[in-house]
Amino acid sequence: MSLVKDFPRVHLSHTPTPLELLRNVSAEFDTNVWIKRDDCTGLAFGGNKSRQLEFYIGQAVAEGADTLLTTGAVQSNHVRTTVAAARKIGLDVEVQLEHRVEREQPEYHHSGNPYLVRLMGARIHYYPVGEDEDGADKALEQRAAELEKEGRKAFVIPLSNAHTPYGAFGYVEGAEELMAQLQALQIEPARFIVPTGSASTHSGFLIGMRACGSDAPVHGVCVRRDAQSQRQRVGKKVKSVIAMIGCDLNIPDSEIICDDSQLAPGYGLPNDDTVAAIKYMARQEGILLDPTYSGKTFALLLDMLRRGDFNRDQHVVFLHTGGAVSLFGYPELVETE
Ligand SMILES: Cc1ncc(COP(=O)(O)O)c(C=O)c1O
Repeated sequence: MSLVKDFPRVHLSHTPTPLELLRNVSAEFDTNVWIKRDDCTGLAFGGNKSRQLEFYIGQAVAEGADTLLTTGAVQSNHVRTTVAAARKIGLDVEVQLEHRVEREQPEYHHSGNPYLVRLMGARIHYYPVGEDEDGADKALEQRAAELEKEGRKAFVIPLSNAHTPYGAFGYVEGAEELMAQLQALQIEPARFIVPTGSASTHSGFLIGMRACGSDAPVHGVCVRRDAQSQRQRVGKKVKSVIAMIGCDLNIPDSEIICDDSQLAPGYGLPNDDTVAAIKYMARQEGILLDPTYSGKTFALLLDMLRRGDFNRDQHVVFLHTGGAVSLFGYPELVETE
């Protein structure tokens, strides 16, 4: 029985997502590399945000909202998925796109995620700063207040870590789902590799795994901020989610692994390893990663595989959180070949 079964939610995702062995990668490194296909959650190209939105929108519906408001980078997968979810549930939706990534290329601003957001007809606002989570959230609250004066009721899905972490519930359940698949295959992974940005995925996944009895390290790959700040963020979220669920888990800080070795040059900007990892996965397995999240996360795993961190009898699981839609905002990945 899921730890999060009593919280309001709406079903939006195609789950359970497949757990697959990456046969060619496993053969090359003489170990067992598994991929949890959360890129296949199905909501307008899916991704990890679909699982998180089930609980945000559950709450929005419970509160009687008629409009969703959220914020993110221009190529935000979260924004795209929120718009799709709103359309599916029949809610109105407005989004705020932040100037978070210094990229002039017109494709970045018009193709991939922003293209789909426009296609699905969301009203778009712009926010001039990209590293101001509180300011971006305040702008959403102001818009919600304006809508209220017009007799509407908006539900804000904010960005900062100060808000109620409904999204993490999606990954408590995601981890429970994965554990059931691993148990059916009689596999005990040596390590899980997950991206860590807002920290909803990382914190929920860690809690879900520990609650299911797995003590394998959950290796968070920083995609947004340095390891120290991210560790604090994840730690805070873990505590508040455990308190909300009301379970008696104790997750010590030493179990919160945040690794920023793939972060440079910064959020939304791929480095050479990111590009190489995206091409490697595409050419070995026909699976698409993205330049901001899953490419950096898999690049870290590739680094471990090259160092020989896993032997023939071990298993490692890579959580593919999606995001490949944004590849269309980065045409130089193949144009420069
Ligand atoms: C494809 C993808 N992977 C990973 C993440 C990071 O997940 P989280 O924000 O839950 O840490 C995001 C966040 O937007 C994402 O879009």
